[in-house]
Amino acid sequence: MESWINKQTNLSISRFDIVMDEVYPNSKKYSKDAQLFIDHIKEKTNYFEAVEVINWEKIIPRSSSVVDLGCGIGWLSAYLSRLKNVKSIFCIDSSKNYIKNLLPMIFKKMNGNLKKVKVIEGLFYPIILDENSTDIVVICASIHHADDFEHLLKEIHRILKSDGKLVILNEDPRSYFNYLIMSLKFFIKVFFHLISKKFKSTSQCLNYSNILTDPDLGDRAYPEWALIKILKLCSFKNITKIDSKYPHNKKTKYFERNSNLVHFVCEK
Ligand SMILES: C[S@@+](CC[C@H](N)C(=O)[O-])C[C@H]1O[C@@H](n2cnc3c(N)ncnc32)[C@H](O)[C@@H]1O
Repeated sequence: MESWINKQTNLSISRFDIVMDEVYPNSKKYSKDAQLFIDHIKEKTNYFEAVEVINWEKIIPRSSSVVDLGCGIGWLSAYLSRLKNVKSIFCIDSSKNYIKNLLPMIFKKMNGNLKKVKVIEGLFYPIILDENSTDIVVICASIHHADDFEHLLKEIHRILKSDGKLVILNEDPRSYFNYLIMSLKFFIKVFFHLISKKFKSTSQCLNYSNILTDPDLGDRAYPEWALIKILKLCSFKNITKIDSKYPHNKKTKYFERNSNLVHFVCEK
């Protein structure tokens, strides 16, 4: 008997790939070719440059086990796998295309050490790893895809060893004022949609601590204070913010928001 649960779960896990193909057809130009994908990231963003400001030798102790959550095509894992202090890496992502097709090619291109890596096709939570099993969790440009930050951070806290660290990378949380303006604009938009009786099956939405800005891919905008509050609520300590000084996007149009990429290093 075929299990509907398995099928439904697989479909839900494949959602990122389906949406990329259907909603962002331009991504097909690079989504099957490792070099084109790297070129695309390097051309559009400062992700690669921004992670260089981290003192990895200091953060990652000797013989560390690392989890790269929402690893995507795996460029950060490839970079980290070259560090001598990294013993093993679990690369976790929901996109079959990224982790099965592109990740091995990316490791080749970037001289990564695939022997240190275990690739897992899965969702952010629950993380099916033992408690106190991991030295370092990195989550690069991905935490804003979680629909429940608290659930995710509690899971990360659970799998980290007592002296483990969480490194949140390449995010651009909003300032208090920017988030306030965004929320007001959102209210006005909802109001006009209501009076004009507009129907949309998927739409942006606002909750107390973030705004779902891309209902297809699940991107969320959130204020910095909210992230720090949730980190503390989930018992993370010594939260250090690192401003990479690199703007998020390389090319931006006039008036387009272009805040710096920031990182947060937190201790369990
Ligand atoms: C913007 S990409 C960042 C990828 C990569 N870390 C990087 O820096 O290039 C976000 C990634 O999160 C993954 N993702 C989104 N929602 C997820 C979920 N619920 N569970 C697991 N991965 C998810 C996507 O498949 C995608 O690879």
